[in-house]
Parts: sequence; structure tokens; C-alpha cells
Amino acid sequence: MSNSLSAETIAIVKSTGPALRQHGVAITTVMYSRLFQDEEVKAMFDQAAQESGEQPRRLAAAILGYAENIDKLEALGGAVSRMVARHVDTGVKPEHYPKVAAALLPAIREVLGNDVATDAVLAAWAEAYQFLADILIAKEEEAYAAAA
Ligand code: HEM
Repeated sequence: MSNSLSAETIAIVKSTGPALRQHGVAITTVMYSRLFQDEEVKAMFDQAAQESGEQPRRLAAAILGYAENIDKLEALGGAVSRMVARHVDTGVKPEHYPKVAAALLPAIREVLGNDVATDAVLAAWAEAYQFLADILIAKEEEAYAAAA
């Protein structure tokens, strides 16, 4: 499964916590508008929860919780279980994860700008995203196998 993150990556991701707290919903809103250019992915989501802003808020909260707890991921246990459950309900598969990364990272840059979302910040987030994705993918694989 996942290797551990470097101390530098952890420090960079934690340092972006305040900017994400301020702009988290804007980032996830931009992320979804990019992600939903893929109709197959769009169809997986409850559009009512999108329009009410509820889903962008839930994802913003998850990303923020992740940034704040990246050095103590056991604090995220309950949140991870809920994500896994929703993902298995909606048929999320490993091949979907790169699509979310390709929507999220440019959204971080677009909202925070080049001065805050520097190349080093985006590289740290790419690494941290992959780390969480690997955890989710492994747990989802177990849940799919248990359900089969
Ligand atoms: C590291 C990456 C990801 C994180 C942090 C994440 C986080 C979340 C969270 C927090 C929820 C809400 C759970 C709840 O209802 O309490 C959720 C739901 C969901 N996620 Fe993810 N997710 C990730 C990747 C993905 C991917 C790759 C897909 C597939 C395209 C996906 C599709 C969904 C769907 C369809 C739902 C249910 C939304 C609805 O109710 O309309 N997620 N995710």
C-alpha cells in the first residue's frame, strides 16, 4: 500500500490549511465543474446535493480535515469509513481517482493563484492526494470483495 509521506510534503500540506479553510468551497466548486466535463463521472453524483452546495462543502471539509491531520491520519478514521461507504454505494473505482486529481490540482491553482499554489505546493498536494487515494482504494477494494 502507501509509503509514508516526506516531512517536507507534510509541512507544505499543513501550511496550506488556512488558505484551504478560507477558500475550500471555492476550490471544490471549481474542481467539480472541471470533473463534470466527464459525463460518466457526472452521472455518479447526486446533482441535487451539488446544486445545494452540500457536496462541495462535504468535500471541502474532507480536504481540510486531511490537511490538518496529515501527520496523524488515525484521527480521520471515521471520515474515511464514511467516504468508503459512499464510494462503494456509488461505484467509485481506482481508475476514477486520477480524474479527480486532474480536476482538483488545477482548481487549487486557479483559486489560490500562482503565488500561493506554487509548483512545490501543487507537487506536495499531488503526493498527499495520492497517499489518501491509495488508502481509500485499498479499503474500497476490501469492501467490494466483502460484498461480492
Ligand atoms: C482522495 C479522494 C477523494 C476524497 C477525499 C473524497 C471525499 C468524499 C467525501 C467526503 C464524500 C461525502 C461522504 C459523505 O456523504 O459523508 C464523498 C462522496 C462521494 N465521492 Fe468522493 N472522494 C474522493 C475521491 C472520489 C472519486 C475518485 C470519485 C469518483 C469520481 C468520487 C465520487 C464520489 C461520489 C459519487 C460520492 C457521493 C456523492 C453524492 O452523494 O452525490 N470520490 N467523497
